[in-house]
Amino acid sequence: MKQFAYVSHQVHDFSDDDLRELMRLARKKNKELGLTGLLLFDHPIFFQVLEGPPDSIDQMCATLQSDERHRDMDIIYTNDDLAVREFARWHMGCKILGNGLPGDYKDLDNRVKKIFSAAKPSGELAHQLLLEFRDMKNSFVDI
Ligand SMILES: Cc1cc2nc3c(=O)[nH]c(=O)nc-3n(C[C@H](O)[C@H](O)[C@H](O)COP(=O)(O)O)c2cc1C
Repeated sequence: MKQFAYVSHQVHDFSDDDLRELMRLARKKNKELGLTGLLLFDHPIFFQVLEGPPDSIDQMCATLQSDERHRDMDIIYTNDDLAVREFARWHMGCKILGNGLPGDYKDLDNRVKKIFSAAKPSGELAHQLLLEFRDMKNSFVDI
């Protein structure tokens, strides 16, 4: 299997409803394509990881690259040799970060901001952060 993660910027403001509708369609399609993953939204930045069969991943990567609702899509890491899914729990988990988050999420949010304020975000740190989110005791999905 393949796995990749990218960061991008929203073009227009995404409301919770926009995101909810996006996730509804994404989960349906990801299920059909055998894709799993997680999307963190740290207004105005999207940070997403996707994993699954190579053909599905390549197809989705191309689809995402031509989606005009976000821009400056920057792939920060790829793994073309993934043996076991790391985000099997979600056809697309979605968590909104931002101000006012409690405890562990606040720490996560600060670290996401730090990683993406670097000129070239570190793929290794980004991957580590995604795994930590997955393993958080009360890791839940917003939308
Ligand atoms: C930040 C962001 C993340 C997205 N994630 C997914 C996803 O995980 N799965 C998916 O099917 N579509 C996702 N989409 C939507 C796709 O770009 C595309 O609109 C959708 O797959 C429908 O494509 P189609 O009309 O070619 O079938 C995402 C869009 C954005 C802006």
